[in-house]
Amino acid sequence: MTTDKPRHILTAVAWPYANGPRHIGHVSGFGVPSDIFSRYQRMAGNKVLMISGTDEHGTPIQVQADAEGVSARELVDRYNPVIAEDLRSLGLSYDLFTRTTTRNHQSVVQEIFRGLHRNGYIFPRSALGAISPSTGRTLPDRYIEGTCPLCGYDGARGDQCDNCGNQLDPEDLKNPRSRINGETPKFVETEHFFLNLPAFADALGTWLAGRTDWRPNVLKFSLNLLSDLQPRAITRDLDWGIPIPLPEWEDRSHKRLYVWFDAVIGYLSASIEWAQRVGEPEAWRLWWENADANSYYFMGKDNITFHSQIWPAMLLGYNGLPDSVPGTLGRLSLPTEVVSSEFLTMEGKKFSSSRSVVIYVRDFLARYDADALRYFITVAGPETQDTDFTWAEFLRRNNDELVAGWGNLVNRSISMAARNGGEIPVATALTDADRALLQASRQAFGVVGSLLERCRFKVAIVEAMRVVSEANRYLSDQAPWKLSADRPDELARRDTVLHVALQLIDDCKSLLTPFLPHSSQRVFELLGGSGVWSAQPRIDEVAEQGNPSSPYVVITGDYATELAVWQSQPIPVGRKLAAPKPVFTKLDPVIVDEELARLETR
Ligand code: MF3
Ligand code: ZN
Repeated sequence: MTTDKPRHILTAVAWPYANGPRHIGHVSGFGVPSDIFSRYQRMAGNKVLMISGTDEHGTPIQVQADAEGVSARELVDRYNPVIAEDLRSLGLSYDLFTRTTTRNHQSVVQEIFRGLHRNGYIFPRSALGAISPSTGRTLPDRYIEGTCPLCGYDGARGDQCDNCGNQLDPEDLKNPRSRINGETPKFVETEHFFLNLPAFADALGTWLAGRTDWRPNVLKFSLNLLSDLQPRAITRDLDWGIPIPLPEWEDRSHKRLYVWFDAVIGYLSASIEWAQRVGEPEAWRLWWENADANSYYFMGKDNITFHSQIWPAMLLGYNGLPDSVPGTLGRLSLPTEVVSSEFLTMEGKKFSSSRSVVIYVRDFLARYDADALRYFITVAGPETQDTDFTWAEFLRRNNDELVAGWGNLVNRSISMAARNGGEIPVATALTDADRALLQASRQAFGVVGSLLERCRFKVAIVEAMRVVSEANRYLSDQAPWKLSADRPDELARRDTVLHVALQLIDDCKSLLTPFLPHSSQRVFELLGGSGVWSAQPRIDEVAEQGNPSSPYVVITGDYATELAVWQSQPIPVGRKLAAPKPVFTKLDPVIVDEELARLETR
């Protein structure tokens, strides 16, 4: 199912804080789903721009820098490459994965601020701010904890309650205390800039009313937010962040833009950086100022507010009223879809680096295949409800479904073909069973494709794996190994069955490419294909124009030249197959106890 006219699709992936390596909970929320989506859209012939980067400002960085005894700058320089490598090794196919400490990002953020200010949506106001009585330093919202005034949950943070999902201001918390040292914060008057969210109530309502295909939980949550829009502070008392681009404010070293205000603009600034890097500086506009382009934002559920309320409000405010003169960035498009996942827990507990309930991506991938993790996350991950990662379930999914299902289909068919000539045999008279199976896999492209289009990844992979099961059943029923090569009619039938099986493998590897790009490449090669079927990301060291002394790493890749397409392609009779080799690794059940023991001793 290739689309007639290529569409421009922006895959906007949440920006991980550069405050530590990524664990598998992180990548199950924003990482794997966004990559499945992008890979599918490319295969369907669309023009994908997939962007993200590390989120390097704000208090989450400052607090971790203090904990590690380094400056914020040193901290982000330490973790930006670590995170880039985590994401690359999972095969996440970013066109550009950059960072928020670039000059380009700062200038785009400041332009958006100025546009909002010029259009009258930003105003200054005195408000209460928390400081730590013992150090005299600002105590950031996230590091104040207390009882939620709305639902009574006692672990609410100063910016948000993770229990009811509402945004909070720290002074609303009952019984507030510092998460850093337990002391009671002192609230003092301080001047900040506010984004006038209530001014966008109607426009946001109209926009949300048209978003009918979102996951129901995300839409419901977003609609709920509309009922209580308050002005939102977009500056902080902090010296690590982007300066406020107004005359009397730019030089105040302790006032910076709020990290979330800066981070969401990263989607735009990264698109602009990408366009500069590919030598077509205006190309980003095809995704941002084009009514036919669509944008999909991928994240965990704690990020919904910022993407379905604050970011769209910022875009609306920058655009201004229909008759106002647009800023230099033009009139920017609002998100088509906010695709949010729920949370992954780990052996029944919340992920927590500090409490050692954690599996880092790099540790995982040192012992297991990227596609085994991608498979688990897709089929058993938190797409629409919280789910639990257990080693026992990982083992079972890997061994019973990937190895015994898909791997076995490939292995036995290729091995049998290798024993009988080592090339793709010709099919003669097709039986009803042959035709039914071939038709099932051809039709699957439509079914699985429209599920992927709608970000229903779990059902999509189950549908693809159903075709794998049908093919396995077909092979067992036809039992080509029982047919004798000495009898011409049986020989012809054996070749036909093998041909059909190999065609099915080729189709299934295409259907599974968005989910399992590494093993799909291997299956492509086993079937005698050469070249890049599914492209993988790489890490490049780059510098900004005019700033050669600050090199940094980015993820990028040449995806446009990959061979993968979203349709059944007839396999060429007579093509030589590669020597059979297992595609997946069967795991020994002892890994479950080994991994559990590792967790205990961390
Ligand atoms: N750094 C944030 C987090 O980890 C996500 C930022 S997404 C953004 O929760 F792009 F909006 F910044
Ligand atoms: Zn609450």
